[in-house]
Amino acid sequence: MRRPLLALVLAIAAIGVLAAGLAALLDTPRPPRGASRGERLFYELCATCHGTDGRGTWRATLFLVRPGNLADGARLGQRSDQYLFDIIKNGGAPIGRPGMPAFGAALSEDEIRELVAYVRELSRAR
Ligand code: HEC
Repeated sequence: MRRPLLALVLAIAAIGVLAAGLAALLDTPRPPRGASRGERLFYELCATCHGTDGRGTWRATLFLVRPGNLADGARLGQRSDQYLFDIIKNGGAPIGRPGMPAFGAALSEDEIRELVAYVRELSRAR
């Protein structure tokens, strides 16, 4: 193989590796097998900011978003189910916490209730 061609092939391979690495980093994490609907929704919609364990992700930190720690039992213990439901449905803006987006348009009330239950589970498990 001639030199320039070899360089081209290597460059393409390097770009491929880089792209695969980035894709793996930025991909939405996959929920475990047999996950509940609440858990699947959480992985799909919430884990980008809150992390699959609820503790927040470096990606959120990168964009200066501070999602707090949903796995903190002491903190979550002070939150009523109604509060959790409202902040997921209406977002944080109505209560002066604009970092948390509203999901009322994307989710049914049933789905929001399942997410509330799952968020409770996150803080109970650890
Ligand atoms: C764009 C990033 C982002 C996404 C996506 C996101 N959140 Fe949040 N969330 C935040 C931030 C930031 C806060 C903290 C707001 C504040 O305190 O100012 C927050 C706060 C919360 C709180 C309140 C915690 C507390 O102690 O008061 C709950 C509950 C919550 N999020 C659940 C969810 C759920 C469930 C989803 C998925 C449906 C979700 N979030 C998706 C960024 C996000």
